[in-house]
Amino acid sequence: MFDTVIQGGTIYAPNNTFVGDIGITGETIGEIKEGGGLAGSNVIDASGKCVFPGFIDPHVHIHLPFMGTNAIDDHESATKAALVGGTTTIIEMICPGPDDEPLAAFNEWKKLAELGACSDYTFHLAVVRFDALAQEQLRELVANEGVQSFKIFLAYKGALAISDDDLLELMKMCRELGVTLTAHCENAEAIDSMQKQLVAEGKTGTQWHEPSRPRSVEAGGVQHLCEFAERAGATVYVVHTSCGEAVNRAMEARKRGVDVTVEAVAPHLVLDKTYAERPDFEGAKFVMSPPLRDKEEHEALWNGLASGSVSTIGTDHAPFNFHGQKDMGIDNFTLIPNGIPSIQERVDLVHTHGVCKNKIDLRTMVDVCSTNVAKTFNMYPRKGVLAVGSDADIVVYDPSFTGTFIHADGLSKIDYSGFEGMERRGRSDVVILRGKLVAEKGKYVGETGTGEYISR
Ligand code: URP
Ligand code: ZN
Ligand code: ZN
Repeated sequence: MFDTVIQGGTIYAPNNTFVGDIGITGETIGEIKEGGGLAGSNVIDASGKCVFPGFIDPHVHIHLPFMGTNAIDDHESATKAALVGGTTTIIEMICPGPDDEPLAAFNEWKKLAELGACSDYTFHLAVVRFDALAQEQLRELVANEGVQSFKIFLAYKGALAISDDDLLELMKMCRELGVTLTAHCENAEAIDSMQKQLVAEGKTGTQWHEPSRPRSVEAGGVQHLCEFAERAGATVYVVHTSCGEAVNRAMEARKRGVDVTVEAVAPHLVLDKTYAERPDFEGAKFVMSPPLRDKEEHEALWNGLASGSVSTIGTDHAPFNFHGQKDMGIDNFTLIPNGIPSIQERVDLVHTHGVCKNKIDLRTMVDVCSTNVAKTFNMYPRKGVLAVGSDADIVVYDPSFTGTFIHADGLSKIDYSGFEGMERRGRSDVVILRGKLVAEKGKYVGETGTGEYISR
């Protein structure tokens, strides 16, 4: 007799899809039985629905001091939003300032997460300083705290950007420690120069954000990262890739033997640059970096996901209110805090725009939104798979649900939705985290603060 049985759903087991039951004991999956027949104290009827492993978001910002303000969510609001949308584990970026010590930053972020996180969580640690003390602390965090991925920025001059000298040395350290280096690929100097030129010409509106950081700059950043990785023998992961040109640079490097993985994020797959061109400063809601591109780039990214050149889909959830935060840049687009939140919407956006439009199939959706993330970031097979002994993180998904994305349904603290009024197909009807029911039909029903840190 299991604690809970999920009965009669179409189960997405590794390499196999079948109708059957899943039995949960405590926090883990005890049995998976094709055809069904398991008994439990608590039974969840999944007939007619899909049963997926809990989704994992590889790119989230919650506590984010950035561009003169701080992102508006806390760990409670962001992770409740994640869970309602079917995401049971998040990887948050720890982004300290250039003077902050890595150890203090890790402790600050972890403490905040421990207070409020409802989903499970782990961290990528941004490296913004690389002096002797920072190097020592980075080694300590890998050895003692299960940190397995760092983050660097080839953007945000004077704030988060790393120098080439430090980048090469950091990559050597990553190789030695077996750490994956995730990277925001642009070119901080080029962007700074283009921003200054545009503003000097009076081009200060939101429509100038994309031209200030064109595709060639992003592709150049990917090329740069991969050349350094080739030299250092490091494993690299390109975050929020927005265009085909950038994916191609990574694939060329992969052919040369570079261990590079490419991430797409939900906004770049669904929205295009015309959103950021909307009048009356409305475009500010759609300012993120790399920027939203031409619609044609959606095809390049979906094709990359279908072919395997793009391996994961995250969100880059970075919530800044339209009123009181985005409007810091009302007279100058370079001052608009960057970010388009989608932690709650991600899976349904991928289902609506990817699966329902035949760009990818359901198996690929599971791979890129869960399994590949777990494998890339050392959480597999605890996370990212329906298998005996894995954490019972399970989503009963209704692919036939139809509705509309609206801000009022959101659990994030953000004051707008970038997807307002857009068609929605699919919903996570039942979300289970380590054996406990946490969300049902768009409502959070779990306890607060029960998310666990995943040491990797
Ligand atoms: O626009 C973005 N992406 N904001 C968050 C910071 C980052 O670059 O990931
Ligand atoms: Zn970034
Ligand atoms: Zn980010």
